[in-house]
Amino acid sequence: MPSTDSLTNKPYQMTTSEIQAFQTTFMAWYDVHRRELPWRLNQEPYRVWLSEIMLQQTQVQTVIPYYERFLATFPTVVDLAAAPEELLLKTWEGLGYYSRARNLQKAARQIVDDYQGQWPQTSVELEKLAGIGPYTAGAIASICFGEVVPAIDGNAFRVFSRLLKIDADIANPKNRQIFYDAILPLIPQDRPGDFNQAVMDFGSQVCTAKNPTVGETDLAPFFRSYQDGTLLDYPVKTKKQRPKPVALMAVIIQSPQGVLLQKRPSTGLLANLTTYPLVVPADILPEDEVLTPEEILTYIERYFQETYAITLQQLRPTNLKPVVHTFTHLKWTIELLQAELVADVDLAFFPGQWYSEDALQMVALPTVQKKLMARIKTN
Ligand code: ADE
Repeated sequence: MPSTDSLTNKPYQMTTSEIQAFQTTFMAWYDVHRRELPWRLNQEPYRVWLSEIMLQQTQVQTVIPYYERFLATFPTVVDLAAAPEELLLKTWEGLGYYSRARNLQKAARQIVDDYQGQWPQTSVELEKLAGIGPYTAGAIASICFGEVVPAIDGNAFRVFSRLLKIDADIANPKNRQIFYDAILPLIPQDRPGDFNQAVMDFGSQVCTAKNPTVGETDLAPFFRSYQDGTLLDYPVKTKKQRPKPVALMAVIIQSPQGVLLQKRPSTGLLANLTTYPLVVPADILPEDEVLTPEEILTYIERYFQETYAITLQQLRPTNLKPVVHTFTHLKWTIELLQAELVADVDLAFFPGQWYSEDALQMVALPTVQKKLMARIKTN
């Protein structure tokens, strides 16, 4: 059962005096234990925003060097708005989830074009920018502009579900409002940004998923789940779906001009990024027919002929171990094939080009492509 305030019937509340004691203790904890991070040097929204986007899927320690490099390459929002896409992706390379980089530039352009270079200062306005959802809007608005608003990410779900024994399923987006309503009255009016950053630090350093040490801190008396020994029962989260397995074939085609790489379509997974030509056999083979490996190769040759007007010569397996790469929803298992093309082949119908070793250094390659290249190099 949720802990419910018997007077107001609002769940997950604390009394006014409990809130005051919690705030004092929590902010005192932050003042001693706060991490010195490059995006905490000042409250410039450009810097804070960039850090929050980078930190969305990537650990703090990994982000720091990318963050410094990105800021050195694009020191202001105006520089980012004007950046060539290739340089943007190259600077982002290694962080993955390239749509984040594209949205970053989209938002930079919105700020320059629609807001005359002046950042909007409320979470409601910030959410209108590309790639900025409620969490990021809350983080920027509270840290940079002092708005009293929660920033609810995985850390906040973990900390507050444990603090207040909130047993709403955090996998259900509808339950976010329950957390918002529970957190809002806990935010000190004079330090909303520090409060939200304290949640990030406490959540990632102390109130961790597997080995929480809440009991060793002054916050222990406030954590209702710690008090009754149920800390690890929170947050409540239904299992997410396993990534769906998809079999692919990468066709490695060499010529004296280099290796043939394809620019992927402008929408969908790895949009606009460069990989070996990738084929999903399930999309091109007849259903419900058992085919020999040779027959499969023949279908792939036919596919290249019909789709790209390219004649593959000697398409054959490499016998390299397939490369496995997992995205949020998909698990790719990629078999590597090789082939040659006749010299001076016409690539008019192929969405890609030959890449020399030097040219390969200049293009943003997604992690999956790097894995494929590494597999070939190490064999
Ligand atoms: N995780 C997400 N945002 C963060 C921030 N600003 N500082 C530390 N960890 C974070």
